[in-house]
Amino acid sequence: MDLERIRTVGVVGAGQMGSGIAQVMAQAGYQVVLQDIGEAFLESGLNRIRESLDRLLAKGRVTADQAAEIMGRIRTTVDMNPLSKADLVIEAATENGKVKEEIFRKLDALAPPGAILATNTSSISITKIASATSRPDKVIGMHFMNPVPVMELVEIIRGLATSEETFRCVEGLARAVGKTPVEAQDYPGFIVNRILMPMINEAVYALYEGVGKPQDIDMAMKLGTNQPMGPLALADLIGLDTCLSILEVLHGGLGDSKYRPCPLLRKYVDAGYLGRKSGRGFYSYR
Ligand code: CAA
Repeated sequence: MDLERIRTVGVVGAGQMGSGIAQVMAQAGYQVVLQDIGEAFLESGLNRIRESLDRLLAKGRVTADQAAEIMGRIRTTVDMNPLSKADLVIEAATENGKVKEEIFRKLDALAPPGAILATNTSSISITKIASATSRPDKVIGMHFMNPVPVMELVEIIRGLATSEETFRCVEGLARAVGKTPVEAQDYPGFIVNRILMPMINEAVYALYEGVGKPQDIDMAMKLGTNQPMGPLALADLIGLDTCLSILEVLHGGLGDSKYRPCPLLRKYVDAGYLGRKSGRGFYSYR
């Protein structure tokens, strides 16, 4: 697939990542088909995009007309069939290997033969997801960072069979939507999460062992290492369930005990303290 031939981008999943991806694609002029399994998920995804565009509007980065045009390029659906019109689909569903493989099996059957199937997975094997399809050469990782409209990086991950043509197209697409691509090989956690998650997990251990209070751990890392936010606040932004599942993939896939998730992180997830999205994580957002 040539970058020039891409007109319509499908996005599977309207959560914080999927809605952000839909937004940046629509902002760059692509037609977007945003699919999720429930109307309520689609509605909250659209609301998130509206809020993000409102911020850009308030700063004069887009006009009201442009914001309306961007929203107008995003079509939502609970049915997967409209994804058959997409030249490229980016999957941003739940971080669960079985769920993703099932989605890719369906996408493979639906999407035009030349279409690229990308996944925004933060840690699951691209090679394994690709093996659920008949087109592993056209399956690739396109990993955006949260919040998608703000963060510049996109990690592009080659599966074992990903073709050079697919890689070049997706690398070009990342640039076309104003992001900076970085190439990573297909090992658990790729680059960003391989390095970020052990830091977040260590911050949770520091809390668990009483080394410091959440505010102090975050302030120490923010002011002491010039990070825009502390690791516990960042975990709340990413989602504690997502952090836990990435750590489990690192732990299982690399087999090293240094990736074992902190029991406190597991306890919070069990309690439904998932971070900002549930209103409570290491901090309260109510
Ligand atoms: N849409 C549009 N603009 C947004 C936005 C959104 N959703 N969220 C924030 N912004 C804009 C703000 O309007 C503001 O713009 P200006 O500078 O032009 O005024 C700017 O971003 C900064 O926002 P705020 O002033 O509200 O707050 P802040 O300065 O504390 O920044 C932050 C917020 C951008 C989230 C910043 O704290 C940050 O960069 N944090 C680290 C984020 C990070 O590390 N993300 C990667 C996580 S890892 C990941 O995503 C991979 C994975 O697989 C888990």
